[in-house]
Amino acid sequence: MTSPRKIVLAVGGGIAAYKAALLARECLRRGVEVRVAMTPASTRFVGPVTFTGLTGRPPVVDLWDPGHGGEVHVELADWADAIVVAPATASLLAKMVAGLADDPVTATLLCFGGPRLVAPAMHHRMWANDATQRNVEQLRRDGVRFVGPTDGPLASGASGLGRMAEPDVIADALERMLDELDGGADDAADLRGRTLVVTAGPTHEPLDPVRFLGNRSSGKMGYALAERAQRRGARVVLVSGPVALPAPAGVTVHGVTTALEMEAAVAPHLATADAIIMAAAVADFRPAEVSSSKLKKQAGVDVTTVALVRNPDILGGLGQARAASGTRRPMLVGFAVETEDVVGEARRKRISKQVDLVVGNHAGVAFEGDENEAVLVSATREDATGRLSKHALADRILDAVRAQLEG
Ligand SMILES: Cc1cc2nc3c(=O)[nH]c(=O)nc-3n(C[C@H](O)[C@H](O)[C@H](O)COP(=O)(O)O)c2cc1C
Repeated sequence: MTSPRKIVLAVGGGIAAYKAALLARECLRRGVEVRVAMTPASTRFVGPVTFTGLTGRPPVVDLWDPGHGGEVHVELADWADAIVVAPATASLLAKMVAGLADDPVTATLLCFGGPRLVAPAMHHRMWANDATQRNVEQLRRDGVRFVGPTDGPLASGASGLGRMAEPDVIADALERMLDELDGGADDAADLRGRTLVVTAGPTHEPLDPVRFLGNRSSGKMGYALAERAQRRGARVVLVSGPVALPAPAGVTVHGVTTALEMEAAVAPHLATADAIIMAAAVADFRPAEVSSSKLKKQAGVDVTTVALVRNPDILGGLGQARAASGTRRPMLVGFAVETEDVVGEARRKRISKQVDLVVGNHAGVAFEGDENEAVLVSATREDATGRLSKHALADRILDAVRAQLEG
């Protein structure tokens, strides 16, 4: 497993500075440590406190702040594995070419010998200007990588080439750059040749055309597993319930809504997958009847009941089918989200469902956030992970999957 990667996010003074906050969050979600440096102009567009709240550390906004107790740009440059400049203004590009160092961003950049990723954002005429294009050309020759800009609506109301790449696209480019830094594909390819099926998110069980029974699963854990498995070389099929997350690059996503649909989407993979990881929060019950028209309030009726029927136990069904086949493939991994006795429930679930590994986690931390804390329960081991980003936890689970597949 690779150690957490550390980046300085260098924020320039353009309208797209607000998207730097989303980028910081996206990097953290992917398990990357983030510290922020801001140009004075950028602090006019987005408040430094926003980054303090997101990263847990105040951004560096002033080289002369006595609180830094030293040369903060040197310290930042020593700490970082990479620097991402987003948004990169026309002025910042020019300063990088000239080697100016008159604020926390430019001073840190000048002090840094590692990989730099730049996401320009500006009016299309600023981007097209010969001076900017010369600067971009020079920076490319200096080894700086670029992501974007893209063509589209700009803050001014005009449209053209100059819009900053979206945060998840920048984060993808960053991860590719960091992977190369880690030693390229070899280091990250320990699941190459494996096929992993991951389920994620909640299921929605319809009650009528506008209502459903659902749960608080965000899908982040399953998506983190799919992203990390793909980056480690696996072929990944992600069977996803309704979530608000972007499809991970390089992953085949099969979108479903209900538990029955999820079961039908997963079942064919039993014969071909190397591992099936059921991170989805599948509803145990669904309404017995789905009304074809919207259910209405009725005068004088204050209490009503909804009859529910059991959904199939997808994980248990896979365990049973595998046991009946007499093989130990695919490896089966389940999740137990509990409110009490997490370890006990994980042990019971592993045995009753006839699966290899159960990731026990507490409902209080498992949902919605970007972090989780789990215990990995197999027949031979119980590993408490402590609190981790969901991406780091995904790597721990995939380490266990790889170990079992290899051995
Ligand atoms: C409202 C407003 C929006 C701006 N948007 C951009 C922009 O998107 N891209 C850009 O290169 N400059 C933009 N500028 C100009 C920069 O803010 C200006 O060049 C500033 O000196 C850049 O400082 P920095 O690169 O040190 O952050 C904008 C200025 C204003 C007042």
